[in-house]
Amino acid sequence: MKVLVVGSGGREHALVWKIAQSPLVEKLYCAPGNPGTAQLAENVVIAVDNLEGLLAFAKENAIDLTVVGPELPLSLGITDLFEEHGLKVFGARKNAAIIEASKAFAKDLMHKYQVPTAAYGVFTEVKEAIDFIDSTGIPIVIKADGLAAGKGVIIAQTREEAVEAVTDMLSGNAFGSAGARVVIEEFLKGEEASFLAFTDGSRIIPLASAQDHKAVFDGDKGPNTGGMGAYSPAPVVTKEIHDKAMEEVMRRTVEGMAAEGRTYRGVLYAGLMIDGDSVKTLEFNARFGDPECQPLLMRMKSDLVPVLLAVASGDISGVEIEWHDQATICVVMAAEGYPGDYRKGDVIAGLEEAATLEEVVVFHAGTRSADGNIVTSGGRVLGVTAMGETVQGAIDRAYRAVDKISWPGVHYRRDIGAKAVKRQG
Ligand code: AMP
Ligand code: GLY
Repeated sequence: MKVLVVGSGGREHALVWKIAQSPLVEKLYCAPGNPGTAQLAENVVIAVDNLEGLLAFAKENAIDLTVVGPELPLSLGITDLFEEHGLKVFGARKNAAIIEASKAFAKDLMHKYQVPTAAYGVFTEVKEAIDFIDSTGIPIVIKADGLAAGKGVIIAQTREEAVEAVTDMLSGNAFGSAGARVVIEEFLKGEEASFLAFTDGSRIIPLASAQDHKAVFDGDKGPNTGGMGAYSPAPVVTKEIHDKAMEEVMRRTVEGMAAEGRTYRGVLYAGLMIDGDSVKTLEFNARFGDPECQPLLMRMKSDLVPVLLAVASGDISGVEIEWHDQATICVVMAAEGYPGDYRKGDVIAGLEEAATLEEVVVFHAGTRSADGNIVTSGGRVLGVTAMGETVQGAIDRAYRAVDKISWPGVHYRRDIGAKAVKRQG
């Protein structure tokens, strides 16, 4: 069969890498892809938000399955459009992708269907927002309602910071129209985990557990990013936590979405805050996490393609997924300045040497080819991903590869996976 992957980040390189291993696939395309996907698939120069262009390509090339990576095309309705033309597509429909595209929608849904989450308010007026901040106290969390690439969340430690954040967002200065509404919520403490599951709208099959590292610096310091590294499994997700997340978060959400006439079909990602035996939902994403996708797909033993096909067909009853027992970890190598303005165009050295290491895959994210070199072209540049018998083994392997790669101003965290090692003693 012919498969098209939509997107150009590390997540999409990982999807292409995994899908390319399937005996069911005879031809694989990636739009627009990156130099990493180009090694395994044919890149097609069509932007992820050019839905008509993607549709025309899929029809002309008789694509059997389209797999959508990022949230933007999902929120624009790529799945609805492809399905209207009789094409099979893996990804949430527009009226379901809103669970990520609007944080206010997600919070109201959770409230209605008793999905545990932080207390909150939704505001469009600065004065009311400030009154809420004053009655809740600090620290407090301010979130732009719309899509902001993981950067629309401010954890305010002072009243001034909180007031500044709501004023900036509501005036449209920060995040444009995505900030025209804000969600303000109670600060939750605990340890985070990323809980992902495939669903056909009623049945739910969880993926292995994973943990992201949102903050830009070691020790979870500095501003939040799209994610600086991830690993799987996440020991914080014990059997009890897993069962609770399945029942109180995943099942209630999938059933709630169906009851709202927004049947959720695809991969549902819940960001969880775990504190003792309490599990609360921070957010939902309508897609695979990036970088969580990289270590998760490296750990997946089963062929991914039949799973994606079953979800796209709306019946996952026959699906079973096997996982490697080993641990995997992904270290994101980023450009200087990320998540703010960052450098671009620096030549990346050491990629070939890193690629020779066993059980290591260097997934490309923000890279491009230029004059025979691979150069940086995005904030998150590479996702160096490794498998090991233990988390520590995977960590050592990943950083051995990281140490071979360099460019001017490269930045990465040195402590990816440290929480897992600490938990395991
Ligand atoms: P979100 O995009 O809503 O998941 O928020 C991004 C990040 O901000 C999360 O991964 C957490 O690290 C942090 N965060 C979000 N909401 C809260 C909260 N209510 N309490 C504490 N931290 C939060
Ligand atoms: N790594 C977090 C996300 O994909 O939203």
